Parts: sequence; structure tokens; C-alpha cells
Amino acid sequence: MEDELNRLAQEARNTLDAVAEPAELEAFRVRFLGRKGLFSTVMRRLGTVSPEDRPRLGQLANTVKQGIEKLYEEKKQALAGASAPTKAAEDLSLPGRHIPFGKLHPVTQVMEEICAIFEGMGFAVAEGPDVELDHYNFAALNIPEHHPARAMHDTFYVSDSILLRTHTSPMQARIMEAQEPPLRYIAPGKVYRCDSDITHTPMFHQVEGFLVDRRVSFADLKGVLTIFTRRMFDDDLALRFRPSFFPFTEPSAEVDIACVICGGKGCRVCKRTGWLEILGAGLIDPEVLKMVNYDPDAYSGFAFGLGVERIAMLKYGIDDIRLFYENDLRFLGQF
Ligand code: FA5
Repeated sequence: MEDELNRLAQEARNTLDAVAEPAELEAFRVRFLGRKGLFSTVMRRLGTVSPEDRPRLGQLANTVKQGIEKLYEEKKQALAGASAPTKAAEDLSLPGRHIPFGKLHPVTQVMEEICAIFEGMGFAVAEGPDVELDHYNFAALNIPEHHPARAMHDTFYVSDSILLRTHTSPMQARIMEAQEPPLRYIAPGKVYRCDSDITHTPMFHQVEGFLVDRRVSFADLKGVLTIFTRRMFDDDLALRFRPSFFPFTEPSAEVDIACVICGGKGCRVCKRTGWLEILGAGLIDPEVLKMVNYDPDAYSGFAFGLGVERIAMLKYGIDDIRLFYENDLRFLGQF
């Protein structure tokens, strides 16, 4: 029994050493010092030892138990001291805790900047649904079913007639259908395509712009887009209009600006061409005007759709579009 008492004392000391918080200390008290604890169990067995040994063992048991109780009290004091408020914490003259402010995402910032430039040129802002009818995304834009141009868009379909819009151009049809010319609108928003590499993401942003009035010409389109790029970037940034094809515009063009990553020398972002495409544009096809019951002999218009992430990449010299969507605050916090 003497050995057993010594072992128990050692175990209690080791356990108490490892105690770091009040809940553990209470568990220690119940296990070792409680009414049904290990010491009480040993004490109860004193009645079974021989009368000669009983006084000596009884005294030893009391000494060991009192020693552990003393250590327990010391630990209790130490833990209470640690959780009490320190003098520093009570010092009301200390500066408050820093609460970091959130920031607008760089793509949102650039989107707002783009919209502000066009608003400055008299364009009104309209927003439409991300989940769109096939009719507005394609058919109303002169892309009937089975038209090969549908293959240009890697579409996410929700059902046969509903999809995630692949561009913001459906807003042309939606607005023209509801209003009479003259119209001058921009439509910013998210668009979706099954596409991913250093210059493409499956969700990205476009700003659609269009203007319908009498005698609108390609020169008006060039003028508006040149003013836009000059205000968005430097005055002397090179810009080029490249002939292209969109079923809803005729003639059509794609607009490139000199790659700001490599200064036009050629890099992996501009695929060694020195140019980066930022938007598609053209004069609205008379077929599209007819579909919304506008007289194409009386009215003409231009339209453009620009990629917001591309513009943000060029503005900030970012060489991988996917960085915008990795949510790394060290990256996002720089803008
Ligand atoms: C269109 O989406 C046409 N709706 C643009 C248009 C509007 C033409 C009005 C004529 C009149 P395009 O597929 O080329 O065109 O996309 C336009 C811009 O979006 C591109 O120049 C590019 O900057 C950007 N873009 C296209 N795909 C992606 C993608 N997966 N990730 C990021 N940006 C993209």
C-alpha cells in the first residue's frame, strides 16, 4: 500500500503539471481528490490493513493527500491570475484594436470606372438577368437554332431554352424591344462560358454598349471607343480595329490595344502578337433592328461588348486572369 500511495502521489503531480486551464483542473480535483476519487478509495482500504501498520500508513496517506491538495490550491491561484485582466488591458488610454476595412474587388473597381466614362458620354446604365432565355442570347441577335455561330460560345445550358448568358448582348434586344429610339445604353454584368486559361475564365464580366438613332455610322463607333480607351488608359496607347464577324453586327470589328505587359514586343499574355483584344463591336445588323420592329431605313446603330477582366489586366499589368478569382487577399489588397 505504501508503494501504491507513492505511485498515486507521483501520478497526481504529473497530471497537475500538465493542467493548463480551469476545466482541466476541475477534472483533476474530481479524479484525485473528490469523494469518490483515487485518494478516498485508497483511504477506505486502510481499514483492511493490519492494526500494527495502520497508524503509519494512515499518517503517510494524510501527508501525501495534503501535499497534493496544496499543489492543487497553488495551481488554482496561478490559473485565476492568468485569466484576470492585466493592467495593460484595463488601460483605457491605449489605442483601439485595428479593424481592417473591406475593399471593392479590382474587377468591380474597373467596371465602375468603365461605366463612369460611358455615363460621362451620355449613356444610361441597364442591368439584365444572368440566367437568360435562349431567345435573347441567340435568336433575337440573328443567331437562329443550328447557326454555326452558336459554336463560338461555349454555353452552359440550364434547359433547352434557358442558359447562363454567354455575353451581355441580350440586353440590346431586351431594351430595343421595350423602347423606341433614340437609345444610348450600357449594360454591365456577369457572363459565363465553358472556358479557362490565362486570359479566359468561366465567369467573367462584360459591359455592353449600344446607340441607336438616325444616321449613326461606324465613325461614331470609332469616336466613342477611342475616347473610352484614351480615358481608361494613356492618351498615346495604340489601338487597332480588326475586321471580324458577329451575326448581330455588320460590319463587325474587334478592337485590340497594345499589350501593356510587354509593351507590344510579344509575351505569353498577348500570345506573342503584341496586341490584346478587349472588345467586339460593329454596326447593329438591320436584321436585328427588324426583329424589334425598328425601320432599318430610318434608324441605324452601333454596339460593342468589352471584357472587363481584360481591361483590368491591362490597366494593372496582371499576366494571369485567374488571379482575380483565387481570392488571395495579398493580391486583392493591392488595388
Ligand atoms: C462578344 O461577346 C460579343 N457579344 C461582343 C459584341 C457586342 C460584338 C456587341 C458586337 C457588338 P466576344 O466573344 O469576342 O464577343 O467577347 C467580347 C470580349 O469579352 C472579348 O474581347 C474579351 O475581352 C472578353 N472575353 C471573351 N471571353 C472571355 C473569357 N472566357 N474570359 C475573360 N474575358 C473574355
